[in-house]
Amino acid sequence: MKGVILAGGLGTRMMPCTKVTNKHLLPVYNKPVIYYPLNTLVKGGLKDIMIVTGGNNAGDFLVLLGNGSEFGLKDISYTYQEGEGGIADALKLAENFADEGKVIVMLGDNIIKDDISGAIEEFEKQPKGAKIFLKEVNDPERFGVAEIKDGRVINIEEKPKNPKSNYAVIGLYMYDSDVFDIVRTLKPSDRGELEITDVNNEYIRRGTMTYSIIDGWWTDAGTFESLYRASKLVAEDKI
Ligand code: G1P
Repeated sequence: MKGVILAGGLGTRMMPCTKVTNKHLLPVYNKPVIYYPLNTLVKGGLKDIMIVTGGNNAGDFLVLLGNGSEFGLKDISYTYQEGEGGIADALKLAENFADEGKVIVMLGDNIIKDDISGAIEEFEKQPKGAKIFLKEVNDPERFGVAEIKDGRVINIEEKPKNPKSNYAVIGLYMYDSDVFDIVRTLKPSDRGELEITDVNNEYIRRGTMTYSIIDGWWTDAGTFESLYRASKLVAEDKI
């Protein structure tokens, strides 16, 4: 399976730092944000990864990550997302890279402690569809929230005012090659983006969505508060 890390966007929530850099290059404790998702995928056994970036500082990813050998990658590719069309819009750019195979997609500002090798193996055996990762949180209204019934996810709501559960959908997704056809059918949401939640709801509608609950901590690092929290968690845990 190939991996895609989404590290685009203009980082408007993190001005003025993002005037001169991309939010995924800011430090979390002693490493740039993007190192953490990259290491998660490498630990999961992936050897071929595409970075989708954007904004004014996209070239810095090449300087930082080079040809990927330092991370144990066989191949690293880069592509460029124009503007801020959302997660599903960024994913479109990985269609040729995926080459009709399954892909694992991780948001470049998501950091998890768990090793996901087991879930990757499970998904490799899953004949078709998608698999998402959930984590119980105290502030579900900030995220995509999964409604679970009889051991299946029956719906996901993006940033609901009245969440139906405390299970946040974290920024880590596994898809079969149908994902690119699904993305083509999406319409922009109220925030003007193609939403990954709409992709996931289509897999739920088709009855081919599975999920895995992560045990260790998870955080994003896309706001100053969460970046600070991420640094503390990493420093305490030394991941
Ligand atoms: C995105 C997704 C959301 C998910 C979150 C995880 O939110 O839309 O479903 O829970 O990432 O970090 P965004 O960061 O675009 O607000």
